Amino acid sequence: MIQNETMQSILARRSYKVFDSRPIDKEALETIVTAGLYAPTGMNRQPWHFTVIRSPEMLEKFGAARRSLPLPPGIPPAAVAAMGDPMRNAPVMILVSAKEGGTSAQDCCLAMENMFIAAASLGIMSGWDHATVMDLFNHHPDLKAELIPEGYTLYAAAFFGYPGPTVKDRGERKGTVEYK
Ligand SMILES: Cc1cc2nc3c(=O)[nH]c(=O)nc-3n(C[C@H](O)[C@H](O)[C@H](O)COP(=O)(O)O)c2cc1C
Repeated sequence: MIQNETMQSILARRSYKVFDSRPIDKEALETIVTAGLYAPTGMNRQPWHFTVIRSPEMLEKFGAARRSLPLPPGIPPAAVAAMGDPMRNAPVMILVSAKEGGTSAQDCCLAMENMFIAAASLGIMSGWDHATVMDLFNHHPDLKAELIPEGYTLYAAAFFGYPGPTVKDRGERKGTVEYK
């Protein structure tokens, strides 16, 4: 396999459940967001809206709403507590939303993956959190209205931050590849 800086960033990216609270500086954040904006989109529609949550006030508001969510059915409170703070100590969360239709879902996920890789190239890791944020928006429509444009659907949500301790390395890849 050819090793270059891009491949190193792709291979270095890992999903984190706990981050170091060190802030992400403006230039690094702009670099990550720019990588997202340069993802391909169906018919070059660029249908998305990126919401970058980074102010301590909004992170706290978001965190408080998350902590107020009812526990998922079947999960004992001790297991939820063991997962730690729902904000994972991350200094940034990015939401990618778009109007439904066309290739919006694919476009938004491609943007998020570009951001994951750009972040990894800067030593910043990420953690997908879409399902919880969807749940949060269902319980707190006011927060949804504050964070994403009216009529938009959330397609991708992730934390970004410098890595804290990681529990498990899921780096090994065992998917099927077939060359014909
Ligand atoms: C669509 C999608 C949903 C995911 N949902 C969660 C999630 O709910 N919680 C979580 O901690 N990680 C979630 N992840 C991260 C995966 O668990 C992770 O990408 C996978 O285990 C491979 O590990 P790696 O990202 O470190 O290579 C999700 C990833 C994707 C792409």
